[in-house]
Amino acid sequence: MTTFLEILENLNFLFSFTEHYCSVANSYEYLHKEMYKGFLPHLMKSLDLKPHHIVADIGSGNGFIAENIFESFALKNPVWCVDPSAEMQEVARKRKGAFPVQQTAEEFFSDPKISQCFDTVVAVFSAHHFADPNTVYEKIFRSLRPNGSFLQFDSVSHSHPGMV
Ligand SMILES: C[S@@+](CC[C@H](N)C(=O)[O-])C[C@H]1O[C@@H](n2cnc3c(N)ncnc32)[C@H](O)[C@@H]1O
Repeated sequence: MTTFLEILENLNFLFSFTEHYCSVANSYEYLHKEMYKGFLPHLMKSLDLKPHHIVADIGSGNGFIAENIFESFALKNPVWCVDPSAEMQEVARKRKGAFPVQQTAEEFFSDPKISQCFDTVVAVFSAHHFADPNTVYEKIFRSLRPNGSFLQFDSVSHSHPGMV
């Protein structure tokens, strides 16, 4: 049973990361430019996308990665950018090839209509925020079309469900 203290701790965690992303939304790309420079080529090399593919970026932040995917693969449709942060989505909205959905992964994938609709789902440095990773992963797999792929990049502990 969840104790009152655990509920408070969870709320506090939620509050602090929400506040964090609110305050860094406009400078996130600048602050992480070195990381992106090293990491983006690896991400792009790991993706096998065709222009007609439908892609979702979960925990898409400011949409920087979505825009890069959209342009690099000359996608015909914008990338679904799923992120609960209003401030991050404000920045993402101005980008080319980003279709912002202001929801958590949990909310987004709870919709039964989100089934077999994506060729690729990516989650870059966001899965550690999932409240219930196993459930989210199950629903991500349900959202994939036959032969679809899920690509996660994150720095998580070896006990995280995403590592098995
Ligand atoms: C470290 S940032 C990564 C942003 C982006 N993927 C990138 O690499 O530039 C993590 C993002 O996950 C989002 N996030 C937090 N909780 C989430 C959840 N439950 N579902 C989806 N995204 C979440 C945050 O709002 C934040 O924008």
